[in-house]
Order: sequence, then structure tokens, then C-alpha cells
Amino acid sequence: MKILFIGDVVGSPGREMVKEYLPKLKEKYRPNLTIINGENAAAGKGITEKIYKQFMEWGAQVITMGNHTWDKKEIFEFIDDAKYMIRPANFPEGTPGKGIVYVNVNGVEVAIINLQGRTFLPAIDDPFLKADELVEEAKKRTNLIFLDFHAETTSEKQAIGWYLDGRVSAVVGTHTHTQTADERILPQGTAYITDVGMTGPYDGILGVDRDAVIKKFKTSLPVRFEVTKNGRTQLGAILVTLDNKTGQTSKVERILINDDHPFFG
Ligand SMILES: [Fe+2]
Ligand SMILES: [Fe+2]
Repeated sequence: MKILFIGDVVGSPGREMVKEYLPKLKEKYRPNLTIINGENAAAGKGITEKIYKQFMEWGAQVITMGNHTWDKKEIFEFIDDAKYMIRPANFPEGTPGKGIVYVNVNGVEVAIINLQGRTFLPAIDDPFLKADELVEEAKKRTNLIFLDFHAETTSEKQAIGWYLDGRVSAVVGTHTHTQTADERILPQGTAYITDVGMTGPYDGILGVDRDAVIKKFKTSLPVRFEVTKNGRTQLGAILVTLDNKTGQTSKVERILINDDHPFFG
């Protein structure tokens, strides 16, 4: 089982990258399952139903989210119908949507889980406890368990990676929008990367117009963050190859596409 995961898609530049490169990545790597983090897909904040459906049409099977899940108000209208969209599972009880989904890939079931860290992010439920609960639930159905851990700090991401080593197939980090070069297979067979990196503007600051971000740092005044348009773009992704029975990862490949790291088909 090969799973392709594309990191935080930011605004229309990010969506264009998915549209252009997902077919090329599929041709090159032949993934059986494609997952996209879409928390910033709509103008950098949240996701719309139209974009969710576009991602599915372009070849994704599951969309994960993060701290920007609720930024577009229409999410409340469609999240319960978006069968293959998950938001962090450790949002408080009663929050709309769900944090785990099962996909049948040619007769093999894969569980996909979304969790969010708590360091420098809103105080939500304990992701470690929630992971225990969901992994136990998923194990009754499958050994193939993929986790998108949406978190700010490297330490919290490494902690959950090691905590879940051997219990899940992969722990991939999202949210910080900058790809880390630490992809590896932990000793018990869990693929790990601190952050997959973002998909969208290459010359902004985490995808946002530089001037606004610099002004914010210099003045602390409120500024309006806009997705950088009409510039160079990038795509961050990871490909994991799993054993269909044990769920252990045998291969992990980091994918980065930008002008400094051109794509070779
Ligand atoms: Fe993000
Ligand atoms: Fe985020």
C-alpha cells in the first residue's frame, strides 16, 4: 500500500499546484491512496464545499484539517455530509465533524486520523489520550493507520511519533508550512516526519504576503493576512509504502517541488 500525503494547501496557488502536479505524482509514484491537508485551501483560511469536491475530483480520497477548520462559516453546513473530510479528533466533545475515517482501498482498509497539538495552539483535549482511544478502535479493523498530527512544536510532534511507534503506520506533521528533512522509519515500523511542508506560494511567509507579516512583527499592529498571489509556487508531500498485513512502513519518501527542487517525472 502506497499512501501519498500532500501538506497544507494554501489558497488558489496551492490548489493550482495540486491540480497540476497530482496527476504527475500519481503517474510517477502510483499511490493507492491520496490524502490532502486542506485547512488553508480557501484563501488561506478553512475550506469550502466546492474546494472539497474539487480535491476529490482531482484524485484525493481523504481531506484532513487543522486549527483553521472553522474559518469558513459554510463548513458547518457541509461537514456532516463530507464523508471523507476529517478534523482534529481531539476537538471537544460535541464539535461537528469527525476525526477518523476508514477507506477501503482495493479490499484493504486504511484508517486515517487527524489530531492537533496543544503547545502554542488552543487548549483542546489531550491528543495522546485521544490517539490511544482511536488507535485501539482502529486496530479492531485494520493495522494500516495513518495519522496527520497538526501541531506547532517539533517536540510535541516527535513525542507523538515515538509514543505511537509500532502502533500506527505513519505519523506525519502538518501546520508549520515548512518541510523538515527528518523523514525516517522509527524502530517499530512507524514512518515519521515533523512537517510535510505546505503547498502554495513559495515566496510568501508561510504562504502569506511578506509585507503584512513583516509589518506585524515590526509594529504589532493588526494587519490583514492575504495569500501571496501571482508568484512562484511549491508543493510539499510525502509517500509511504506499507505492508498490507502488519501496517509497518517499509519505505518513506519526502517530496518537495519548487524552483530550487524541480520535479522530474
Ligand atoms: Fe496550515
Ligand atoms: Fe494549521
